Amino acid sequence: MSALALDVAAVRARFSALDRPTAFFDAPGGTQVPDSVIEAMAAYLRESNANLGGAFETSRRSDALVVSAHHAAARFLGCEPDEVGFGQNMTTINFALTRTVGRELRAGDEVVVTRLDHDGNVSPWLELAHDLDLVVRFADIREEDATLDLVDLERQLGERTRVVAFPWASNAVGTITDVRRIAELAHEAGALAWVDAVHYAPHGPIDVREAGVDVLLCSPYKFFGPHLGLFFGRRELLERWRPFKVRPAPDEPIGVRFETGTLPHEALAGFCAAVAYVESLGWEAIVAHERELGERLLGGLPDALRLHGPPTMDGRAPTFAVTFPTLTPELAAIRLAERGIAVWWGDYYALEVMRRLGLPDGAVRLGIVHYNTAEEVDRLLGELQRLV
Ligand SMILES: Cc1ncc(COP(=O)(O)O)c(C=O)c1O
Repeated sequence: MSALALDVAAVRARFSALDRPTAFFDAPGGTQVPDSVIEAMAAYLRESNANLGGAFETSRRSDALVVSAHHAAARFLGCEPDEVGFGQNMTTINFALTRTVGRELRAGDEVVVTRLDHDGNVSPWLELAHDLDLVVRFADIREEDATLDLVDLERQLGERTRVVAFPWASNAVGTITDVRRIAELAHEAGALAWVDAVHYAPHGPIDVREAGVDVLLCSPYKFFGPHLGLFFGRRELLERWRPFKVRPAPDEPIGVRFETGTLPHEALAGFCAAVAYVESLGWEAIVAHERELGERLLGGLPDALRLHGPPTMDGRAPTFAVTFPTLTPELAAIRLAERGIAVWWGDYYALEVMRRLGLPDGAVRLGIVHYNTAEEVDRLLGELQRLV
């Protein structure tokens, strides 16, 4: 086994949830969590459960936990601990942050979103535009491989562009975007680069500085953690923006000004354990294993199936949207579930992608993560063959 190779059996032994016959290809909707995450959450509730700022031991431990969670997030995203904040999920945080930046926007200002986005990075801007008379422009995708059309994106930029909101990876078809280049284009236009990294986060390393982005959002429940949302904001922005916060809540560290109320501390404990879990494997091993499984799946897809999205493992996450010649996506997913295979069907809230690809019923999403095995991929391929 090379230094890079992932010992999948050892990985799976860390997840009690995987110790059953179901083959989980549903990860883009949320992954299973290792036992260390479950234990960290239980241990918090057992030993440290309290609100913040008290003089007693459980409260002190809770204070320390919040600090640890900010440090874990900073390691995960490549930023400073005070440049992150937590919330219920990506969508809720994005509605809040778009409202916040909206305090600086004026009627006629423009926001560019993309047809590759999950609606969690579209509707918050449409709602803001509704209230402030902003203009929302859509950057297109190429129909043949569902990649983002950067020429079209550039066409949408103008003097009034204030924000370019785009995905790091598509949760529907797997396409990975050129985040650095898009951030550069946004900055050249004088706009903020606002990235939804929810789908990318379980599949590869994130470095917000290297990517050059201003705001980035992701959701720990998609990367082996509990149900929770997380954001990064560049310090200068977090210092400048006026948060929607209650007066007695702390102003420091700067990121927490954008968190509201009491957070789910047990989820923060689980989040710390999830980051430690990913760190214990290392991204190289995860990326290599996912690529291998992705190639295996692409190589074995029955000819009768139609794949929507990049045709090879280059420039994509191992998330595959397929449609059948006659079977609807829903029926295909039901048939697979009957055979112990968990997949999602539909549009997965990536409305614009499905519209643009002409898929009113959506597709079947085959989502691989590192805890999947070659045997599971073969089993899935066998069942797909049976269905066509
Ligand atoms: C790419 C992408 N963005 C945003 C979201 C919304 O995330 P959350 O459920 O944390 O609001 C999802 C969830 O599926 C997603 O896949």
